[in-house]
Amino acid sequence: MDLRVAVLPGDGIGPEIMSQGLAVMNAVADKYGHKVECREALCGSSAIEKTGNPFPDDTYNICKEADAVLFAAVGDPKFDNDPTAKVRPEQGLLAMRKKLGLFANIRPIQTFKCLLHKSPLRPELVDGADFVCIRELTGGMYFGEKYQDNDKAYDTNYYTRPEIERILKIGFEYARRRNRHLTVVDKANVLASSRLWRQIAKEMEPLYPDVTVDYMFVDNASMRMIAEPKFFDVMVTENTFGDILTDEGSCISGSMGLLPSASTGESTPVFEPVHGSWPQAKGQNIANPLAQILSVAMMFEYFGLKEEGTLIRKAVDASLDANVRTPEIQVENGMEYGTREVGEWIVDYIRKS
Ligand code: IPM
Ligand code: MN
Repeated sequence: MDLRVAVLPGDGIGPEIMSQGLAVMNAVADKYGHKVECREALCGSSAIEKTGNPFPDDTYNICKEADAVLFAAVGDPKFDNDPTAKVRPEQGLLAMRKKLGLFANIRPIQTFKCLLHKSPLRPELVDGADFVCIRELTGGMYFGEKYQDNDKAYDTNYYTRPEIERILKIGFEYARRRNRHLTVVDKANVLASSRLWRQIAKEMEPLYPDVTVDYMFVDNASMRMIAEPKFFDVMVTENTFGDILTDEGSCISGSMGLLPSASTGESTPVFEPVHGSWPQAKGQNIANPLAQILSVAMMFEYFGLKEEGTLIRKAVDASLDANVRTPEIQVENGMEYGTREVGEWIVDYIRKS
């Protein structure tokens, strides 16, 4: 297969984990005879510095023309600490999602047997937990009308029927391909937008008679996710709730550095880690590259290249089993591996298998 991939390393640890993601992608492509052509583009803080725009038109065009985007992370504390900053790196990510129409963000929450003890939850609670959060990504408070002055501020949680229908459809279809259990997460006891979500989900239920649907308020869902993570199969929710719940989900896996995601919609799909740019670790070769590497697996799988994805997953499992791990998941007294060394080990495994 010929693939054109837009590569957006972004800020902080982004470039370091991206290098390893690309090395793994190229190793797999070599092995299976795929031709992957990469084009790198600016996004986030580095794009602001060079162009004044966190998602420049050039970057947009490169993404638009590609078959897939590999994205790492954006964000820089010098913007977080300046409430008056007019442009922020995160706007680059949001602009990319909006302009590419990436309304469906697929965030799988999985566990790794050898990392169960890294979860703050009891191992028997998390062992076997395996669910997918489907987060609406181009609507809600992130994109609704905003206002801010010195005395008041608001963000509007705006959703239209077509926006809700298309994301719920993805939720139902995903549930169908898994264990046919869909949990719609909302706050319908308080929010009008949630009531519309719930109404539409109920209207759609008869179209998917094989899927068991339950409705859960987001406060309850956030509790249930850590009290009984195995309850969930597929969860579907609005932008803001999905953002919060998936960070919580990383506690189930044991590290933020393990969670990949795929964002799909109207245009080029984007594959990116759930975690952020961890600026404090920039250049230190300590960030976990696995979320990025697993995002590459999701990319291959998206194009129907199942074996390729499976090989990456096997290599990741093997690296963890061999204790080839970055510091945050290393075993006590174990040797610590850097971002690069973990990536190189995985590439080597792929070449040899
Ligand atoms: C994420 C991130 C982004 C979000 C930020 C960086 C804008 O937290 O992808 O989850 O809130 O969507
Ligand atoms: Mn987030």
